[in-house]
Amino acid sequence: MTGSRTGLLEVLATTRAIRRYTDEPIPVDDLAAILWHASRAPSGSNRQPVRYLVLREGPAASEAKALLGQAFRQGWAAKRRADGYGADAPSTPADSPKARMAATMQHYVDHLEAVPVVVLVCMQRYREPSPYEGASVYPACQNLLLAARALGYGGALTMWHTMVEAQLRELLGVPDGVALSACITLGRPAGHHGPVRRRPLGDVVFDDRWGETAPWALDPPGAEHTAWKR
Ligand SMILES: Cc1cc2nc3c(=O)[nH]c(=O)nc-3n(C[C@H](O)[C@H](O)[C@H](O)COP(=O)(O)O)c2cc1C
Repeated sequence: MTGSRTGLLEVLATTRAIRRYTDEPIPVDDLAAILWHASRAPSGSNRQPVRYLVLREGPAASEAKALLGQAFRQGWAAKRRADGYGADAPSTPADSPKARMAATMQHYVDHLEAVPVVVLVCMQRYREPSPYEGASVYPACQNLLLAARALGYGGALTMWHTMVEAQLRELLGVPDGVALSACITLGRPAGHHGPVRRRPLGDVVFDDRWGETAPWALDPPGAEHTAWKR
């Protein structure tokens, strides 16, 4: 493995969505290590239904990334309008977190074809689709992102692949009965990435009964919080 190793709790506390990457490819040894750790995730009855379709530099990968680029640009354009980002919200100060986020997203979707690795995380269905089937897939997705972070890479889990799912299936030969559960982009982070911000722990933990404050549920010193929706 060529990447650095970082302690587990530090990885958990610092893994955020990374959407700007250098051009550096991910060596296959590191990619294998990332996927191996993803594949350690639990699944219902230990059925292990997750499959990883890795798009690197092959001809099919390039075509798939081009399709994904179109989808991501459409997805972001719709979200930008719906959530009032950028030119659709001219009153947003240029240096605000929202404007910075919009710039990062625009860069992300404009450079999707150059993302070093895209992993389509798939699920081999063994029964009719159920509302809970994701419960056997998303632990693996998070393991994948955490392992990438531990080795000095960054990634983002996205769902915009669904807009070109039919074309991807055809292009990549994905059989019926396999769900495309997530699309994860991976690469070496470009520049610095900010802290993970979340709601204060006391807002999301209840003690004994719904709505009861848990006075012991305190953030560690230095924890940063999201600035919205408290
Ligand atoms: C179920 C799920 C769906 C997501 N879909 C997208 C997506 O379609 N596009 C995208 O850019 N990010 C997507 N994300 C990434 C989230 O936007 C990101 O994890 C969240 O904003 C927290 O970002 P942070 O960890 O950098 O603070 C998704 C994340 C999850 C868990």
